[in-house]
Formats: sequence, structure tokens, C-alpha cells
Amino acid sequence: MLAFLGGTGPEGRGLALRLALAGEEVIIGSRDASRAATAAQELLQAAPGARIQGAANGEAAATAQVTFLTFPYEGQRPTLESLGDALDGKVVVNVIAPMVFQRGRGASALEVEAGSAAQEAQELLPNSQVVAAFQNVSAEELQEPGTVMDGDVVVCSDHGEAKALVMDLVRKIPDLRPVDGGGLANAKYVEQITPLLVNINRIHKIHAGIRIVGV
Ligand SMILES: NC(=O)c1ccc[n+]([C@@H]2O[C@H](COP(=O)([O-])OP(=O)(O)OC[C@H]3O[C@@H](n4cnc5c(N)ncnc54)[C@H](OP(=O)(O)O)[C@@H]3O)[C@@H](O)[C@H]2O)c1
Repeated sequence: MLAFLGGTGPEGRGLALRLALAGEEVIIGSRDASRAATAAQELLQAAPGARIQGAANGEAAATAQVTFLTFPYEGQRPTLESLGDALDGKVVVNVIAPMVFQRGRGASALEVEAGSAAQEAQELLPNSQVVAAFQNVSAEELQEPGTVMDGDVVVCSDHGEAKALVMDLVRKIPDLRPVDGGGLANAKYVEQITPLLVNINRIHKIHAGIRIVGV
């Protein structure tokens, strides 16, 4: 069972939809259970027969074995602090790319004291296995199941088994390819690519992704 906290937004919806279509059982989480239920119903229309349900974030985290963080960076500390021990011993996939938008300057990376959102999440959840992944994958394309995804997903973690599990989840979304990005200390570089992609998207009117060549 996979939970998507903040899964009512485009990134969580898209990942949940793609993984549900691949046969995974998913729970859309929200700060508001009824919003989660509505999003789950909407996704079921795009994926009839898939196993998709909605729940409040706390219930979703408590139920799932793997929990994706798919809400904005400003919500990370309060959300993780409020979940208590629901994520203890579990795999937590951090999709968050901390960034700010400024008029005239576009998107830029937000400095995080811990180094990255993923490292901060690991500090907040010392008993969980945090894996950083999917930060560079376009929500728009994920939400279009007819679109074959093109690109790589760099996966970083200090927990080898959890990293391997998440790399297997990446392989379930055609044609994304997981690339082992080493330890969680490397997550900051992956997170900081996302504002660059956002700015490239604006210039070229596309949904850019990344590809690592030579591996
Ligand atoms: N959009 C993309 O293309 C993209 C690509 C790569 C990575 N990402 C990353 O993925 C994450 C989600 O992106 P998104 O575009 O889906 O974000 P979003 O639409 O801004 O937010 C997703 C959901 O998060 C919840 N939320 C909003 N503010 C919150 C807060 N302060 N505390 C807790 N929950 C909050 C909301 O759900 P409820 O109100 O229902 O709780 C919202 O529907 C972000 O961290 C982003 O950096 C996005």
C-alpha cells in the first residue's frame, strides 16, 4: 500500500495514478479527508478498477508501508511533526523540491538548513527510511496516462533496501528509468534542478525532465 500525503495536488495525483495503473494499491492523503475522497474518485474515473482510496494524511500514513511526501516544502515540518510515530520503521519517499517564485525572476531554489528537504525529513523522522526521488518529474505528464514518460529519476538514500524498493517503483512507470544517486546528501542537487526545469518549461512551453547519460 502506497500513501501520497498532499496527494490532492498534481504531483501526488499523477504519481498515484501511474502507480495505481501499474497495479499498486494507493491512498490519496489530504489535510481534509473529504478532499482526499473526492480526488480518489476523480482518479478512479481515469483508472477504472484500480485500487485507489482517500483518507486524511494521518490515516493514510498509518495504513501504508510506503509514504510519498507530495506537498509543498513549507508544509514539511508541521506535517511530519504532527504524524507522530505513524511513519516509524517505514519507507518515506520525499518528492519535495523547495523553491520560491519571484516576479520577474521565475523559480529559484530555497536554501534548507539541513542541506535538502529530504535530509530535513530524515532528521524529523529518525526511525524512518527516507528516500529522495521523483523531484524532477513533471506532474502534467504524470497525470496523462496516455503519455509515455521520458527521462530519469535520480534516487538518493542512506538506506539501501529502501532505495532498491523505490527504484523498483520507478520502473513501474513507463518509460521512467531509476538512476542510483547515492546517499541522501546528494538529494540537494536533485532538488535544485527542479526550479531550473520550471524556468526552462516557461521559456519553451514544455514539460522538461532530465536524463543522465553514460549510465
Ligand atoms: N508540480 C510538479 O510538476 C512537481 C514536479 C516535481 C516535484 N514537485 C514537488 O512535489 C510537491 C507537490 O507538488 P504539487 O505541485 O502537487 O503541489 P501543490 O499542488 O502546491 O500541493 C499539493 C497538496 O499539498 C497540500 N498542501 C498544500 N499546502 C500544504 C501545507 N502547508 N501543509 C501540508 N499540506 C499542504 C494540499 O493538499 P490538501 O489541501 O488536500 O491537504 C495540496 O493539494 C512539491 O513539494 C513540489 O516541489 C512538483
